[in-house]
Amino acid sequence: MREFEETFATAEAAATQNRQSVSARERSPNEATKMAQVDTLLTPRFYTTDHAAIDAASVEPVRREWEGLMAEFEADNNDEHFTRPPDMASKVSELPPALYQEFNEFLISSITSEFSGCVLYAELKKKVKNKDMKDVFGYMARDESRHAGFINQWLKDFGVGVDLGFLTKAKKYTFFQPKFIFYATYLSEKIGYARYIAIYRQIEKHPEFRFHPIFLWFEKWCNDEFRHGEAFALIMRANPKLLEGRNLLWIRFFQLAVFATMFVRDHTRPEMHKALGLDPTAYDLRVFEITSEIAKQVFSVTLSWDHPDFLAGLRRLCVIQDEANAAKARGGVVGRLLQGVAAAKAAWVFGRLYLLPVKRAPLPSQIRMQPSW
Ligand SMILES: [Fe+2]
Ligand SMILES: [Fe+2]
Repeated sequence: MREFEETFATAEAAATQNRQSVSARERSPNEATKMAQVDTLLTPRFYTTDHAAIDAASVEPVRREWEGLMAEFEADNNDEHFTRPPDMASKVSELPPALYQEFNEFLISSITSEFSGCVLYAELKKKVKNKDMKDVFGYMARDESRHAGFINQWLKDFGVGVDLGFLTKAKKYTFFQPKFIFYATYLSEKIGYARYIAIYRQIEKHPEFRFHPIFLWFEKWCNDEFRHGEAFALIMRANPKLLEGRNLLWIRFFQLAVFATMFVRDHTRPEMHKALGLDPTAYDLRVFEITSEIAKQVFSVTLSWDHPDFLAGLRRLCVIQDEANAAKARGGVVGRLLQGVAAAKAAWVFGRLYLLPVKRAPLPSQIRMQPSW
């Protein structure tokens, strides 16, 4: 069985199995799996949702664009992409220790988020009857299983493959109502595209910074993520109530949450960005720019990521995150107290970022976009 087929089967099985039922008899997971299992504000989670509501979603108002998208999924032009030439399988794990640690953590966080998509989409495919929804979630689960399986091949070179079967049972599932799933997954697909294409353009221009071969796959890979984002864009535009009125407040919230999480997390990886020849702040601003440009296809409000107070607030969140980590490491009553103080400070800064002016623009009549960055 090809690696991704196995990953897909694991995700599908997760839809029916009894979750959080890892018995004491099951072998204890390796370090990479434990890292993937941890849920914090900064790590990818597993989601579940109201299947009946998704089943009731109609795409009739955008039928023509929807059929075009389905034809692309059907054509499956990345079918052969996620296969490694056999000669690439060795020697890639010889990285300096600090870089190795950050890169390893990056791969584990990436595989968790790919697999999180895979599990959610596979579950939806299994539980809905509506043909449009069944088709789209089936295609997307297929793609995400390839992505997760591909990352695991490289992790296995480091001797630290993530046990995805264990993860489906042991990791906590967070319930999100469908509209939140749409906002969050749309943004994570599009920001995933923006992140991968920005790295790919850098190593294309500066091959000397390509410290690991996986980056060579990023260009075609991120086109999959772009297409997944298009699916959510069409679903939301076909159900315009999701994009109006008080929902705009949620839409602002999700954009900020996704941007702030990424900024803080990327700033914990100085060695990896140095090795790629990227300044993490400049890189993140570029990703905000691309993501916001794309998001105008669905969101009539986008964030003022280029406002000086925006960057200042995000930098402040990084400092608070360091304080929270120090408090956690200190432990005891004082440590817990200081963690509480850090959380309150972070909430305050987040609130101020939320209240910054936003950019408003009417939604375009043609929804679909091309990945042209
Ligand atoms: Fe993916
Ligand atoms: Fe995706």
